Amino acid sequence: MNTKGIILAGGSGTRLYPMTAVFSKQLQAVYDKPMIYYPLAILMLAGIREILVISTPEDTPNYKKLLGDGSNWGISLSYKKQDKPGGIAEAFIYGEDFIEKSQVCLILGDNIFYGKLDFLRNALEQNKGGTIFGYPVNEPGAYGVVEFDKDGNVLSIEEKPKAPKSKYAIPGLYVFSKDVVKIAKNIDRSPRGELEITDVQLEYNRRGKLRVELIGRGIAWLDTGTPESLMEASTFIHAIEKRQGHKIACLEEIALEMNFISLRQYLDTVNNLPNCSYKDYCLAVVK
Ligand code: TTP
Repeated sequence: MNTKGIILAGGSGTRLYPMTAVFSKQLQAVYDKPMIYYPLAILMLAGIREILVISTPEDTPNYKKLLGDGSNWGISLSYKKQDKPGGIAEAFIYGEDFIEKSQVCLILGDNIFYGKLDFLRNALEQNKGGTIFGYPVNEPGAYGVVEFDKDGNVLSIEEKPKAPKSKYAIPGLYVFSKDVVKIAKNIDRSPRGELEITDVQLEYNRRGKLRVELIGRGIAWLDTGTPESLMEASTFIHAIEKRQGHKIACLEEIALEMNFISLRQYLDTVNNLPNCSYKDYCLAVVK
């Protein structure tokens, strides 16, 4: 099934102020790369080649400057401006023309995953309506929390609950059928004035079409919304890269591995990079 990807990279980034006074959150560095490289890498590793980046009117030109049309990586990138941060579910309304009749995988621009991505590839294959993921965390109350039975049926989904009914947080990575556009258009704004992703999930659940897939602890899921979590994410990426000698989310390397580009295209792109350790790495991995 053809899946298109959306990266939602707008928002206000209030918690990271003053770092976000000029540059948006997803342009901040996570160790050695801009944050948005990480969610983009996840979509590419899941085999998704048509991707829409949604950001604020001020920041969208910066993402275009950073990522271009994607041709260097054998993918197609397009862009859309979200007028103001009106909620995660707005991604499907802004993305209507892009989604057309495809299944869509939405990833939030500040979510970082590391580990074997079979859980996502399987979800893209098997999704019948909506698929969300459940990831056990210490403080689920900071996230959307899903409660489910032993067959994976969803019993409840609550946004930032004071008394979480499970320890499973819902990461910012979702798979939905093409119906998601209509569903997003039909939900009401929440008291905080946003179109809530939780309400989209609940509508799929009402239709009996929502699955929750658990992500095991072999996968690292980090979020980067606060100064502390941003630093922890950088430290994590640094530790793994230093130990293994492999970069995480090197888009050129991923494009080559996924056969999105030929070795010739790869070398053309890499040779055009300015002299830096990123370039040295890209050259070294094909030696
Ligand atoms: P949040 O972390 O909920 O919000 P934020 O990024 O605006 O940061 P803060 O809470 O510090 O003000 O957003 C999660 C992700 O979704 C993040 O990548 C921004 C993105 N987002 C949008 O692009 N548009 C939106 O309308 C919302 C609500 C979020």
